Amino acid sequence: MFLNMRSYSLIAPAKINLYLEIIGDRPDGYHELVMILQSIDLADRINIRAISDETIRVHCNHPQVPTDKTNLVYRAAELMATQFPEAWAKHGGVEITVEKNIPVAAGLAGGSTNAAAVLVGIDLLWNLGLTQTEIEELGATLGSDIPFCVAGGTAIATGRGEQLAPLPNLDHIYIVLAKYRSLEISTPWAYKTYRQEFGHTYIKTTEDLAARAAAVHSGEIVKAIVHKDAAEIAQKLHNDLERVVLPAHPQVMQLRELFATQPGVLGTMMSGSGPSVFAIIESEPQAQAVKQYIREAIPNEDLELFVTRTITHGIQIAS
Ligand code: C5P
Repeated sequence: MFLNMRSYSLIAPAKINLYLEIIGDRPDGYHELVMILQSIDLADRINIRAISDETIRVHCNHPQVPTDKTNLVYRAAELMATQFPEAWAKHGGVEITVEKNIPVAAGLAGGSTNAAAVLVGIDLLWNLGLTQTEIEELGATLGSDIPFCVAGGTAIATGRGEQLAPLPNLDHIYIVLAKYRSLEISTPWAYKTYRQEFGHTYIKTTEDLAARAAAVHSGEIVKAIVHKDAAEIAQKLHNDLERVVLPAHPQVMQLRELFATQPGVLGTMMSGSGPSVFAIIESEPQAQAVKQYIREAIPNEDLELFVTRTITHGIQIAS
Protein backbone atom coordinates (compact mmCIF):
# COMPACT_ATOMS: atom_id res chain seq x y z
CA MET A 1 0.00 0.00 0.00
CA PHE A 2 2.89 2.36 0.79
CA LEU A 3 5.04 1.31 -2.16
CA ASN A 4 6.41 4.11 -4.32
CA MET A 5 5.08 6.91 -2.15
CA ARG A 6 7.16 10.06 -2.53
CA SER A 7 6.40 11.52 0.87
CA TYR A 8 5.54 10.47 4.41
CA SER A 9 4.19 12.27 7.40
CA LEU A 10 5.21 10.82 10.76
CA ILE A 11 4.21 11.40 14.36
CA ALA A 12 7.23 11.62 16.69
CA PRO A 13 6.25 11.46 20.39
CA ALA A 14 8.27 12.86 23.31
CA LYS A 15 9.38 10.74 26.25
CA ILE A 16 9.67 11.27 29.97
CA ASN A 17 11.97 9.43 32.37
CA LEU A 18 10.06 7.65 35.10
CA TYR A 19 13.44 6.57 36.44
CA LEU A 20 17.06 7.57 35.86
CA GLU A 21 19.82 6.07 37.98
CA ILE A 22 23.49 6.69 37.26
CA ILE A 23 25.51 3.57 37.96
CA GLY A 24 28.89 5.08 37.15
CA ASP A 25 30.99 6.70 34.46
CA ARG A 26 32.45 4.67 31.65
CA PRO A 27 35.79 4.71 29.86
CA ASP A 28 34.07 6.10 26.72
CA GLY A 29 32.98 9.25 28.57
CA TYR A 30 29.33 8.22 28.81
CA HIS A 31 27.52 7.15 31.97
CA GLU A 32 26.23 3.69 32.64
CA LEU A 33 22.51 4.13 33.36
CA VAL A 34 19.33 2.39 34.33
CA MET A 35 16.39 4.35 32.96
CA ILE A 36 12.69 3.74 32.55
CA LEU A 37 11.46 5.61 29.52
CA GLN A 38 7.83 6.38 28.76
CA SER A 39 6.30 7.83 25.57
CA ILE A 40 3.73 10.61 25.97
CA ASP A 41 1.21 12.00 23.51
CA LEU A 42 3.02 15.31 23.10
CA ALA A 43 4.46 14.90 19.60
CA ASP A 44 6.15 16.62 16.68
CA ARG A 45 5.14 15.96 13.09
CA ILE A 46 7.88 15.16 10.58
CA ASN A 47 7.19 15.38 6.85
CA ILE A 48 9.71 13.66 4.58
CA ARG A 49 9.66 14.12 0.82
CA ALA A 50 11.89 12.80 -1.96
CA ILE A 51 13.38 15.60 -4.06
CA SER A 52 15.22 15.35 -7.35
CA ASP A 53 18.52 17.03 -6.42
CA GLU A 54 20.88 15.05 -4.19
CA THR A 55 20.70 17.27 -1.13
CA ILE A 56 19.28 17.18 2.38
CA ARG A 57 17.03 20.12 3.18
CA VAL A 58 15.62 20.68 6.67
CA HIS A 59 12.92 23.20 7.62
CA CYS A 60 11.49 23.82 11.07
CA ASN A 61 8.76 26.14 12.33
CA HIS A 62 10.69 26.70 15.60
CA PRO A 63 13.19 29.58 15.40
CA GLN A 64 15.63 28.01 17.91
CA VAL A 65 15.98 24.75 16.01
CA PRO A 66 18.96 24.76 13.61
CA THR A 67 18.43 23.35 10.12
CA ASP A 68 22.09 22.59 9.38
CA LYS A 69 24.33 19.63 10.24
CA THR A 70 24.05 20.38 13.95
CA ASN A 71 20.44 19.16 13.84
CA LEU A 72 20.02 15.45 14.59
CA VAL A 73 17.39 15.33 11.82
CA TYR A 74 20.00 16.37 9.27
CA ARG A 75 22.51 13.89 10.69
CA ALA A 76 19.95 11.06 10.57
CA ALA A 77 19.32 11.73 6.86
CA GLU A 78 23.05 11.98 6.20
CA LEU A 79 23.61 8.65 7.99
CA MET A 80 20.99 6.96 5.78
CA ALA A 81 22.63 8.46 2.66
CA THR A 82 26.06 7.11 3.64
CA GLN A 83 24.75 3.71 4.79
CA PHE A 84 22.62 3.20 1.68
CA PRO A 85 24.46 4.99 -1.16
CA GLU A 86 22.64 3.08 -3.92
CA ALA A 87 19.21 4.05 -2.57
CA TRP A 88 20.41 7.63 -2.14
CA ALA A 89 21.63 7.72 -5.74
CA LYS A 90 18.42 6.10 -7.02
CA HIS A 91 15.87 8.15 -5.06
CA GLY A 92 17.59 11.53 -4.95
CA GLY A 93 17.64 13.86 -1.97
CA VAL A 94 15.22 14.41 0.88
CA GLU A 95 13.36 17.42 2.18
CA ILE A 96 12.37 17.22 5.84
CA THR A 97 9.94 19.56 7.56
CA VAL A 98 9.73 19.50 11.35
CA GLU A 99 6.57 20.85 12.99
CA LYS A 100 7.68 21.36 16.60
CA ASN A 101 5.32 20.93 19.52
CA ILE A 102 7.79 19.33 21.95
CA PRO A 103 9.79 21.94 23.92
CA VAL A 104 13.45 21.99 22.85
CA ALA A 105 16.44 21.16 25.14
CA ALA A 106 13.91 20.03 27.71
CA GLY A 107 14.83 16.46 28.71
CA LEU A 108 11.96 15.16 26.57
CA ALA A 109 14.05 13.65 23.71
CA GLY A 110 12.58 16.09 21.17
CA GLY A 111 15.63 15.97 18.88
CA SER A 112 16.03 12.20 19.34
CA THR A 113 12.42 11.42 18.41
CA ASN A 114 12.73 13.62 15.31
CA ALA A 115 15.84 11.71 14.27
CA ALA A 116 14.07 8.38 14.89
CA ALA A 117 11.23 9.56 12.62
CA VAL A 118 13.72 10.42 9.88
CA LEU A 119 15.28 6.94 10.04
CA VAL A 120 11.82 5.31 9.87
CA GLY A 121 10.65 7.71 7.15
CA ILE A 122 13.66 7.23 4.90
CA ASP A 123 13.44 3.45 5.35
CA LEU A 124 9.87 3.72 3.99
CA LEU A 125 10.68 6.29 1.29
CA TRP A 126 13.50 4.18 -0.12
CA ASN A 127 11.76 0.80 0.44
CA LEU A 128 14.75 -0.47 2.41
CA GLY A 129 12.76 -2.95 4.51
CA LEU A 130 14.93 -2.47 7.61
CA THR A 131 13.92 -4.26 10.80
CA GLN A 132 13.13 -2.33 13.99
CA THR A 133 16.43 -3.59 15.47
CA GLU A 134 18.39 -2.37 12.45
CA ILE A 135 16.79 1.07 12.71
CA GLU A 136 17.49 1.17 16.46
CA GLU A 137 21.14 0.23 15.87
CA LEU A 138 21.52 3.03 13.31
CA GLY A 139 19.86 5.40 15.78
CA ALA A 140 22.24 4.42 18.60
CA THR A 141 25.18 5.71 16.55
CA LEU A 142 23.60 9.19 16.59
CA GLY A 143 22.29 9.43 20.17
CA SER A 144 21.55 7.31 23.24
CA ASP A 145 17.78 8.05 23.36
CA ILE A 146 17.07 7.46 19.66
CA PRO A 147 16.63 3.65 19.83
CA PHE A 148 13.86 4.01 22.45
CA CYS A 149 12.06 6.63 20.37
CA VAL A 150 11.64 4.22 17.42
CA ALA A 151 9.13 1.85 19.08
CA GLY A 152 8.40 3.91 22.21
CA GLY A 153 5.87 2.76 24.80
CA THR A 154 7.38 1.82 28.16
CA ALA A 155 10.89 0.35 28.35
CA ILE A 156 13.82 -0.14 30.65
CA ALA A 157 17.06 1.15 29.14
CA THR A 158 20.55 0.19 30.25
CA GLY A 159 24.10 0.74 28.98
CA ARG A 160 24.28 4.38 27.95
CA GLY A 161 20.50 4.23 27.42
CA GLU A 162 20.51 2.43 24.08
CA GLN A 163 19.97 -1.15 25.30
CA LEU A 164 16.25 -1.68 25.63
CA ALA A 165 13.91 -4.19 27.16
CA PRO A 166 10.16 -3.58 26.85
CA LEU A 167 7.97 -3.25 29.94
CA PRO A 168 4.18 -3.68 30.06
CA ASN A 169 2.48 -0.76 28.35
CA LEU A 170 1.13 2.10 30.43
CA ASP A 171 -1.77 3.80 28.71
CA HIS A 172 -3.83 6.81 29.77
CA ILE A 173 -1.90 7.88 32.82
CA TYR A 174 -2.41 11.64 32.98
CA ILE A 175 0.58 13.93 33.16
CA VAL A 176 1.03 17.68 33.55
CA LEU A 177 4.30 18.87 32.11
CA ALA A 178 5.96 22.23 32.76
CA LYS A 179 8.95 23.85 31.09
CA TYR A 180 10.36 27.38 31.12
CA ARG A 181 10.71 28.26 27.44
CA SER A 182 13.92 30.25 27.86
CA LEU A 183 15.60 27.78 30.23
CA GLU A 184 17.62 25.15 28.38
CA ILE A 185 19.87 22.64 30.11
CA SER A 186 22.72 20.99 28.27
CA THR A 187 22.75 17.23 28.84
CA PRO A 188 26.59 17.04 28.78
CA TRP A 189 26.67 19.79 31.44
CA ALA A 190 24.28 17.86 33.70
CA TYR A 191 26.27 14.61 33.49
CA LYS A 192 29.62 16.38 33.81
CA THR A 193 28.48 18.28 36.89
CA TYR A 194 27.12 15.08 38.42
CA ARG A 195 30.47 13.41 37.86
CA GLN A 196 32.34 16.35 39.39
CA GLU A 197 30.10 16.66 42.45
CA PHE A 198 29.39 13.02 43.18
CA GLY A 199 32.70 11.68 41.78
CA HIS A 200 34.44 8.37 42.44
CA THR A 201 32.01 6.64 40.14
CA TYR A 202 34.48 5.35 37.57
CA ILE A 203 33.66 1.76 36.58
CA LYS A 204 36.94 -0.14 36.72
CA THR A 205 36.14 -3.73 35.79
CA THR A 206 33.25 -5.83 34.55
CA GLU A 207 32.96 -7.29 38.09
CA ASP A 208 32.69 -3.75 39.42
CA LEU A 209 29.93 -3.00 36.89
CA ALA A 210 28.09 -6.23 37.80
CA ALA A 211 28.27 -5.38 41.53
CA ARG A 212 26.91 -1.91 40.93
CA ALA A 213 24.18 -3.16 38.58
CA ALA A 214 23.08 -5.58 41.29
CA ALA A 215 22.59 -2.62 43.65
CA VAL A 216 20.23 -0.58 41.42
CA HIS A 217 16.91 0.45 42.92
CA SER A 218 14.63 0.15 39.89
CA GLY A 219 12.94 -3.11 41.00
CA GLU A 220 10.11 -1.45 42.92
CA ILE A 221 9.01 0.87 40.12
CA VAL A 222 9.21 -2.01 37.64
CA LYS A 223 6.87 -3.97 39.93
CA ALA A 224 4.48 -1.00 40.05
CA ILE A 225 4.55 -0.80 36.23
CA VAL A 226 3.80 -4.52 35.95
CA HIS A 227 0.78 -3.94 38.24
CA LYS A 228 -0.15 -0.80 36.23
CA ASP A 229 -0.48 1.00 39.56
CA ALA A 230 -0.17 4.73 38.77
CA ALA A 231 -0.08 5.78 42.43
CA GLU A 232 2.71 3.34 43.22
CA ILE A 233 4.66 4.29 40.07
CA ALA A 234 4.37 7.95 41.08
CA GLN A 235 5.77 7.18 44.52
CA LYS A 236 8.81 5.44 43.04
CA LEU A 237 9.83 8.08 40.48
CA HIS A 238 13.56 8.79 40.62
CA ASN A 239 16.10 10.92 38.77
CA ASP A 240 19.73 11.24 39.94
CA LEU A 241 20.25 14.32 37.74
CA GLU A 242 17.87 16.29 39.97
CA ARG A 243 20.79 16.41 42.42
CA VAL A 244 22.67 18.77 40.12
CA VAL A 245 19.89 20.54 38.20
CA LEU A 246 17.56 21.51 41.09
CA PRO A 247 20.20 23.35 43.16
CA ALA A 248 21.41 25.21 40.05
CA HIS A 249 17.91 26.23 38.93
CA PRO A 250 15.61 27.35 41.79
CA GLN A 251 12.68 27.86 39.41
CA VAL A 252 12.76 24.14 38.53
CA MET A 253 12.82 23.33 42.24
CA GLN A 254 9.85 25.68 42.74
CA LEU A 255 7.86 23.82 40.07
CA ARG A 256 8.62 20.50 41.77
CA GLU A 257 7.44 21.88 45.11
CA LEU A 258 4.28 23.47 43.67
CA PHE A 259 3.29 20.27 41.90
CA ALA A 260 3.83 18.22 45.04
CA THR A 261 1.26 20.19 47.04
CA GLN A 262 -1.61 19.89 44.53
CA PRO A 263 -4.64 17.65 45.03
CA GLY A 264 -4.65 14.77 42.56
CA VAL A 265 -0.86 14.80 42.14
CA LEU A 266 0.42 11.28 42.79
CA GLY A 267 4.09 12.13 42.28
CA THR A 268 6.39 14.57 40.47
CA MET A 269 9.90 14.47 38.97
CA MET A 270 12.24 16.23 36.54
CA SER A 271 12.54 14.46 33.17
CA GLY A 272 15.99 13.46 31.85
CA SER A 273 18.54 16.23 32.30
CA GLY A 274 15.68 18.72 32.65
CA PRO A 275 14.48 21.33 32.94
CA SER A 276 11.03 19.83 32.24
CA VAL A 277 9.14 18.79 35.34
CA PHE A 278 6.17 16.44 35.16
CA ALA A 279 3.51 15.31 37.60
CA ILE A 280 1.48 12.12 37.46
CA ILE A 281 -2.17 12.97 38.12
CA GLU A 282 -5.12 10.78 39.08
CA SER A 283 -7.55 11.90 36.37
CA GLU A 284 -7.81 14.22 33.37
CA PRO A 285 -10.08 16.79 35.13
CA GLN A 286 -7.60 16.95 37.99
CA ALA A 287 -4.75 17.36 35.48
CA GLN A 288 -6.58 20.33 33.95
CA ALA A 289 -7.11 21.79 37.45
CA VAL A 290 -3.43 21.36 38.33
CA LYS A 291 -2.39 23.05 35.09
CA GLN A 292 -4.73 25.95 35.86
CA TYR A 293 -3.39 26.25 39.40
CA ILE A 294 0.25 26.36 38.22
CA ARG A 295 -0.68 28.91 35.54
CA GLU A 296 -2.18 31.17 38.21
CA ALA A 297 0.59 30.58 40.77
CA ILE A 298 3.32 31.41 38.22
CA PRO A 299 1.82 34.03 35.90
CA ASN A 300 4.89 33.99 33.68
CA GLU A 301 4.40 33.75 29.91
CA ASP A 302 7.75 31.99 29.70
CA LEU A 303 6.30 28.90 31.42
CA GLU A 304 4.86 26.33 29.02
CA LEU A 305 2.31 23.90 30.47
CA PHE A 306 0.83 20.80 28.88
CA VAL A 307 -1.74 18.22 29.90
CA THR A 308 -0.66 14.99 28.29
CA ARG A 309 -0.86 11.24 28.91
CA THR A 310 1.20 8.11 28.55
CA ILE A 311 0.93 6.28 25.21
CA THR A 312 2.01 2.88 23.95
CA HIS A 313 3.85 3.71 20.74
CA GLY A 314 6.83 5.53 19.28
CA ILE A 315 7.11 6.67 15.64
CA GLN A 316 3.90 6.27 13.68
CA ILE A 317 2.77 7.13 10.17
CA ALA A 318 0.29 9.99 10.50
CA SER A 319 -3.23 9.21 9.40
O1 C5P B 1 23.96 10.10 23.42
P1 C5P B 1 23.68 11.56 23.40
O2 C5P B 1 24.40 12.27 22.29
O3 C5P B 1 22.22 11.87 23.40
O4 C5P B 1 24.25 12.13 24.75
C1 C5P B 1 24.43 13.51 24.93
C2 C5P B 1 25.46 13.73 26.03
O5 C5P B 1 24.91 13.33 27.29
C3 C5P B 1 26.73 12.93 25.88
O6 C5P B 1 27.65 13.61 25.08
C4 C5P B 1 27.21 12.83 27.32
O7 C5P B 1 27.82 14.03 27.72
C5 C5P B 1 25.89 12.72 28.10
N1 C5P B 1 25.51 11.32 28.35
C6 C5P B 1 26.22 10.59 29.27
N2 C5P B 1 25.88 9.28 29.51
C7 C5P B 1 24.83 8.72 28.87
C8 C5P B 1 24.07 9.46 27.93
C9 C5P B 1 24.45 10.76 27.69
O8 C5P B 1 27.19 11.08 29.87
N3 C5P B 1 24.49 7.47 29.15
